[in-house]
Amino acid sequence: MTPATDDGADTAAAPDPAPMRRSYEQNRIDEALHPDVTWPQLLGQWFAAAAASGQVGEANAMQLATVDATGRPGVRTVLAKSIDERGVAFYTNLRSAKGAALDAHPYAEAVFAWLPLERQVRLRGPVEPVPEAETLAYWRSRPRGSQIGAWASPQSARVADRAELEAAYADCAARFDGADVPLPPYWGGLRIVPEAVEFWQGRPDRLHDRLLFERDGDHWATHRLAP
Ligand SMILES: Cc1cc2nc3c(=O)[nH]c(=O)nc-3n(C[C@H](O)[C@H](O)[C@H](O)COP(=O)(O)O)c2cc1C
Repeated sequence: MTPATDDGADTAAAPDPAPMRRSYEQNRIDEALHPDVTWPQLLGQWFAAAAASGQVGEANAMQLATVDATGRPGVRTVLAKSIDERGVAFYTNLRSAKGAALDAHPYAEAVFAWLPLERQVRLRGPVEPVPEAETLAYWRSRPRGSQIGAWASPQSARVADRAELEAAYADCAARFDGADVPLPPYWGGLRIVPEAVEFWQGRPDRLHDRLLFERDGDHWATHRLAP
């Protein structure tokens, strides 16, 4: 099979990334201005700013890093579907590569890269299943096509070709015709319960602002990190 995309890019014309650079000058983190701010408050403010900016395609997209049973890292994009003081939750196929990795090591790091705002937020901590009632409420809010897609796709498994996927989709669509699409038993939500949250704001001369919130038992401590 010849892989084909339709972007028509000429790889010979790919630019040299070495001279690509910007000076980051849009904002700053000044903990003196907000001495009592908590990480959920700051995360909420930054997420709201990213969503409202009109510059971030999908403000709830985050890169999720896991470690598999053999110690190898894996990172991929997922969409956060809940962002609050409990942490960040996403939904996935629990039998996928990431699901297997999180079974072996239920601990993850995620990063929101809000690059047009010269910001990133990293969160790491243990991963817990989203309670069933919350998962079900989210599942029911999904478009029917996405629900059928979740049944049709053995996420991360090798498939022969696109036709195999489309045939599986058609089978599932026929199977659930005229009925609500039930929650697949292997599909659900996972929440990173943060024990560390770091806010990064780009600054001139690469002297960026980094503010780390770190949990110590019931208490959260705040530290400034060198860029
Ligand atoms: C913008 C974007 C959003 C995505 N959202 C999700 C998501 O919410 N859940 C998910 O399972 N995969 C999502 N994916 C696909 C994952 O990046 C990944 O390809 C898939 O989950 C399989 O990963 P795994 O083989 O490491 O388990 C998204 C990809 C992109 C680019």
